[in-house]
Amino acid sequence: MSAALRCNTAACSRTSAAASRAPRRAVACRVATHNVTFKYPAGDEKTFQCTADKNLLEGALAAGVEPPHLCKTGSCGVCAARVLAGNVERADFLLDDLQQEHGFALLCSTFPRSDLTVITNQETELHTIPYGL
Ligand code: FES
Repeated sequence: MSAALRCNTAACSRTSAAASRAPRRAVACRVATHNVTFKYPAGDEKTFQCTADKNLLEGALAAGVEPPHLCKTGSCGVCAARVLAGNVERADFLLDDLQQEHGFALLCSTFPRSDLTVITNQETELHTIPYGL
């Protein structure tokens, strides 16, 4: 008889690949959670937790933090931010290598890989970096 292992962490519905071999029981996912601090150009900041399987925009919205955003697909650039400290994994379609080297990231397609500090509201600044070179 097959049974699924279901994560017992909040807001997670993952099941384990070992589901068919193990008895039904609750387990915790091994998805890392990171502290993310958004700094706003006006000087205020907000810190929230974001799991590594959520992009920074998803994590922020789930925590009640609402940075500028529009498409949520990595194509408009409205959610542009700049990583000041920490490691991320980008799945950006819009940003080129030079923009990424300057720390830019799109919140809707960037995933935390450590605790992070990010400055938000960087859409205008993003376009000061030449792209497509
Ligand atoms: S919301 Fe459009 S690129 Fe992120």
